[in-house]
Amino acid sequence: MKKNQKSKFAIIGYPIQHSLSPAMHNTAFKALKLPFQYSKIQLTPKQLPSFFRKLRNESYLGLNVTVPHKEAVVKFMDELSDEAKLIGAVNTIVIEDSRLKGYNTDGAGYLQSLVKETRLSLRDKRIVILGAGGAARAILASLCTQGVKQITIANRTFSRAKTLAKEFQKKFNKIQLKALPLPDDHIGSLFKETDLLINTTSAELKKMPFPPLPLNHLPRHAIVSDIIYRPKMTVLLKAAKKAGLKTHGGLGMLLYQGALAFELWTGKKAPLSAMKRALEKIV
Ligand SMILES: NC(=O)c1ccc[n+]([C@@H]2O[C@H](COP(=O)([O-])OP(=O)(O)OC[C@H]3O[C@@H](n4cnc5c(N)ncnc54)[C@H](OP(=O)(O)O)[C@@H]3O)[C@@H](O)[C@H]2O)c1
Repeated sequence: MKKNQKSKFAIIGYPIQHSLSPAMHNTAFKALKLPFQYSKIQLTPKQLPSFFRKLRNESYLGLNVTVPHKEAVVKFMDELSDEAKLIGAVNTIVIEDSRLKGYNTDGAGYLQSLVKETRLSLRDKRIVILGAGGAARAILASLCTQGVKQITIANRTFSRAKTLAKEFQKKFNKIQLKALPLPDDHIGSLFKETDLLINTTSAELKKMPFPPLPLNHLPRHAIVSDIIYRPKMTVLLKAAKKAGLKTHGGLGMLLYQGALAFELWTGKKAPLSAMKRALEKIV
C-alpha cells in the first residue's frame, strides 16, 4: 500500500468498549485480504465537533456511529442517503474525496435478518413495536416500505410514541400507525391481532425489564423479535418460546447492518459467514 493511502475504519460512540463491530469488520477485511484496520474510538458528545473538523485530513475511509451519536452526527455530513434522511440518524459514514456521506443501515439490516431468518412475508401484517428510540425509528422506516397493514408503537414515554406515529403517518398514509403507552391494559386485545412483536427497548440491558406482557394473547403464528443480542435469549424471547411462539434474536441485525456498511465502504460483497462466526465467538 502507498504511503498516505487511506486504510482506516472505526466505530465512534460513548461508551464503546463493548462494541463487537471491530471483531466483525476486521475478520471481514482479513477474509477478503483487504489491507484495512477497524478500531473503536470513544468520544463524548462534546468531543464530536473537533473530531469531525480533523477527520477529513486523516486516513479514514469510513466510520460506524453508535449510541449516543447517531442523530448528532447528521449535521457534520455533506450528504445523506434517503434512509438516513427518513430516519434522521446515521450509523455508517463513507468518506470519499474528503466528503462525508451518511447512511443508515440499521433498518435494512433488521429487515434482512428478519426475512432471512424467519421467512416472514410482511405484506398486510400487523406489527407492534415496543420502544420509540433510535432503533425503533430505523426499524419503523424500513417496515413502512414493505406494504404492512398496521404498526403500533408502544413506549414508556407515551408522548414519544405519539410523535413518532404522527411523523411516519404523514409520510406513509396507506399504513395505520398508532401509539400506545407501555405498559397498558389494552395491549392484550391488540396482541390478538398482531403478527409480529418487536422489542427495541433497552429495558433489559438496563436490568429493568418491563412487567410481563400477555404473550398468550398473540396468535399461534406470531413472531416475537428482540433486537438485544446480549444475552441471545432475552427475558422476552424466553417467555415467547415458553408460550410456543416463534422467536427472532438481535444478532442478525448487527450482522446485516454491518454487512451493508462493509459493502458501502468496499464495493465488495460482505463475507457473511466469516462475519457471523466472528460475532458468535464473542457473544
Ligand atoms: N441488534 C442490533 O444490531 C441493534 C442495533 C441498534 C440498537 N440495538 C439495541 O436496541 C436497544 C435500543 O437502542 P436505541 O438506540 O433505540 O436506544 P434509545 O434511543 O436510547 O431508546 C431506548 C428505548 O428504550 C425504552 N426504555 C428504556 N428503558 C426502559 C424501561 N425500563 N422500560 C420501558 N422502556 C424502556 C425508552 O423509552 P423512553 O422513551 O420512555 O425512554 C426508548 O424507547 C439497545 O438495547 C441497543 O443495544 C441493537
